[in-house]
Amino acid sequence: MMKNPLIDRLGIRHPVMLAPMGGEAACAELVAAVSEAGGLGILGAAYMAPTRITEVIAQIRSLTSQPFGVNLFCPQRWQPEEALTQGYAQRLARFHAELGLPPAQVPERFEESFDAQFDAVMAARVPLFSYTFGDLGLERTRALQAQGAVVVGTATQVREAVQLQASGADAVVAQGAEAGAHRGSFLGERDEGLVGTIALVPQVVDAVQIPVIAAGGIADARGVRAAQVLGASAVAVGTAFLLADECPIAPAYRDALRSAHESDTVLTRAFSGRWARGIANRFTRDMAAAPLPPFPIPNALTRPLRQAAARSGQAQFMSLWAGQAVTLARPMPAAQLVAALAQGWQPDA
Ligand SMILES: Cc1cc2nc3c(=O)[nH]c(=O)nc-3n(C[C@H](O)[C@H](O)[C@H](O)COP(=O)(O)O)c2cc1C
Repeated sequence: MMKNPLIDRLGIRHPVMLAPMGGEAACAELVAAVSEAGGLGILGAAYMAPTRITEVIAQIRSLTSQPFGVNLFCPQRWQPEEALTQGYAQRLARFHAELGLPPAQVPERFEESFDAQFDAVMAARVPLFSYTFGDLGLERTRALQAQGAVVVGTATQVREAVQLQASGADAVVAQGAEAGAHRGSFLGERDEGLVGTIALVPQVVDAVQIPVIAAGGIADARGVRAAQVLGASAVAVGTAFLLADECPIAPAYRDALRSAHESDTVLTRAFSGRWARGIANRFTRDMAAAPLPPFPIPNALTRPLRQAAARSGQAQFMSLWAGQAVTLARPMPAAQLVAALAQGWQPDA
């Protein structure tokens, strides 16, 4: 059997990871189900308060003794941009009125403290830590590694992968343009980070010495096989797991995923201020030209709208994050999807 240092080090049976999905899809049951099935579940904890992170990690551990991971967003530098923020809040007013919500309020806090989230992850001593939107840096990477954690960064272009390797990452996710939700890009402009998975993975494999995890548009055994041929050491699958039985997304989101076509996703900044791929809806169309304050301001401002829309089943106001392989997603238990994906990996290739 071919040696796969990443998989051997993690001690997992299949080179199949549940890609971290922050927000609605993030739950202990889904992460644990993937790890129990021999893959590796990664919890998208970016929107969780530190105490919640501690709780959910404990839940995961109560459900499985297998390795798992936790993912955070690297802190972003941003300015309050008062006028843009007020203008953006005003643009939300008509959507709020349609849903019977009070006018959008500018919250006092826009995001959780990364330092406090990171401390919670360190205290929990997790088997794997993954991050996106930036470079964690050598000091934090070494602190995690000193506890025995595997540290994984996210790159959307070769130079990001090279930088993450220099910052000590044990492995790097090569996130292609097909991927659902936020782009991990942190160098340059969005267009530079829009390289498809089939082009990106081999170029990253050639440029770094650490293992590469392919992500973006992989949703069945064929995609896994392709990733292996391109030189990846594992795959990270997001969108396909959104329809897993254990995934707690709202019914309207589930319905939108099930009826979407492969060309229905768009890159939008409208919900959060950062480029992300989701199913086009009225919000992405109506807000396409809106002047935006930086991430995470719009993300915090749209939260009440998104949550109310999810409760009342109004998909046109929800962030329907999904990748281009959305039509390959099928409802099934997560363990069944792990097994189906793992069939694409040739053990002795
Ligand atoms: C609903 C959703 C939420 C996501 N949230 C995160 C996140 O919190 N952190 C992260 O690193 N990546 C996040 N991603 C990106 C995935 O980790 C992964 O790169 C992507 O799903 C792979 O492409 P695919 O959706 O085509 O499988 C998210 C993806 C989705 C679909």
